[in-house]
Amino acid sequence: MQSVSSVLADGLIGKELEIRGWVYRIRSTAKMCFVILRDSTNIIQCVGKADELGEDKFKLLSSLTIESSLSLRGKIRKDERAITGYELTISSFQIYCRNQNFPVSKDISEDFELDNRHLWIRSREFSAVLKIRSTIFKAFADFFYENGYYQVQPPLMVSTATEGGSTLFKVPFFGEEAYLTQSSQFYLETFIYSLEKVFTISPSFRAEKSRTWRHLTEYWHAEGEVAWIGNDEMMEIEEKMIQFIIKAVLETNLEELRLLGRDVDVLRESLQPFNRMSYDELIEKSASLGMPLKYGDDLGADEERKIMSNFTRPLFITHFPAELKTFYHRPDPDNPKLILCHDLLAPEGYGEVIGGGERIWDLEELRQRIRDNGLREEDYYWYLDLRRYGSIPHSGFGLGLDRLAMWIMHLDNIKKAIPYPRTIRRLKP
Ligand code: 4AD
Repeated sequence: MQSVSSVLADGLIGKELEIRGWVYRIRSTAKMCFVILRDSTNIIQCVGKADELGEDKFKLLSSLTIESSLSLRGKIRKDERAITGYELTISSFQIYCRNQNFPVSKDISEDFELDNRHLWIRSREFSAVLKIRSTIFKAFADFFYENGYYQVQPPLMVSTATEGGSTLFKVPFFGEEAYLTQSSQFYLETFIYSLEKVFTISPSFRAEKSRTWRHLTEYWHAEGEVAWIGNDEMMEIEEKMIQFIIKAVLETNLEELRLLGRDVDVLRESLQPFNRMSYDELIEKSASLGMPLKYGDDLGADEERKIMSNFTRPLFITHFPAELKTFYHRPDPDNPKLILCHDLLAPEGYGEVIGGGERIWDLEELRQRIRDNGLREEDYYWYLDLRRYGSIPHSGFGLGLDRLAMWIMHLDNIKKAIPYPRTIRRLKP
């Protein structure tokens, strides 16, 4: 048995081969039946002839519908007119599943597609999405392994908020209240005291009530935490990491990117140095970027979309006012109203893919910030302990992998970048 892509080869012309997969397209005349067969690797045109198969078998083959599964034996020949340049002449076949009409076709509504995502993921478009996602996840881990990091596994059921109470998912926990984690950051911080450089890829959960093109309630969060470094060094690492991932996708998935209609030259632009701007500078330039903002304004999906339509490479925004961000960010010693943090905004209108920065590492400063934010110190006793025992400067980041995938593939909605999106209105399939 061979994969479809492996039989598309001059060296196999004239040889008897066996392939298997699913009917991608099928059409027949009185004497000939053309089956385009697909497997996970590619598609190939196969032809069954009535006079060679015999009347009964020919009828059976011709009666198949899209997505029926079968294996085929036959000889390969070159054919310029065939969809992938070769054609298999069928000598025999075995059917595994003879379908009723497959419900999913190209012209379906967005809701129908989402209700049938378990079937839609077989489409060539979505297979391309899945292959690119696979490269992105692998490249993220490869980058950190190659740079001496350890992968760690924080818990997903937790007792405290990381990113504010409004998006917490509550779950009953044997008479107590637990939450699904919003971010593994605080746990990653605990690991640096033994391993110094750590990362994790795990789901994060946000009870996002707004419906936007870039928010999920369950998303894949790639987070890193590094001992002894500040905000600037953290950004340098992230820039290299994003470029490493883009290179991996360009090396591995050119065909998939083309199938999705992605302009790879624009994507290549991001292999050049990223742009950097402080929040103050952004406010100053905002009108000329087509999105007038005033000091103190936060950036949401719409604001970032407009700003980032001006850029073809990512942009780091640094030094946000403290009140715009969560309590753990370290204030800038030169101007304590600002914090040593950054967001990385993806170009072409995509906006935030990373949030990160330096963490407060002084015990009293952190206690004060917890109190100022109306939180209870006792809930964070273990997080405070990290500042009591062997505290050190450190920084970290969180990258939304589904958002990164959406940008890399140039998709218009995050639901198209993840196989089973969870949003305020969707829990199925
Ligand atoms: O900016 P956020 O909220 O930062 C944190 O959670 C930090 N504790 C991470 C850290 O420093 N370890 O989220 C980080 C990233 C965002 O930049 C975005 O890409 C993604 O997570 N993200 C979402 N992706 C999809 N749907 C949502 N609802 C998301 N919320 C955040």
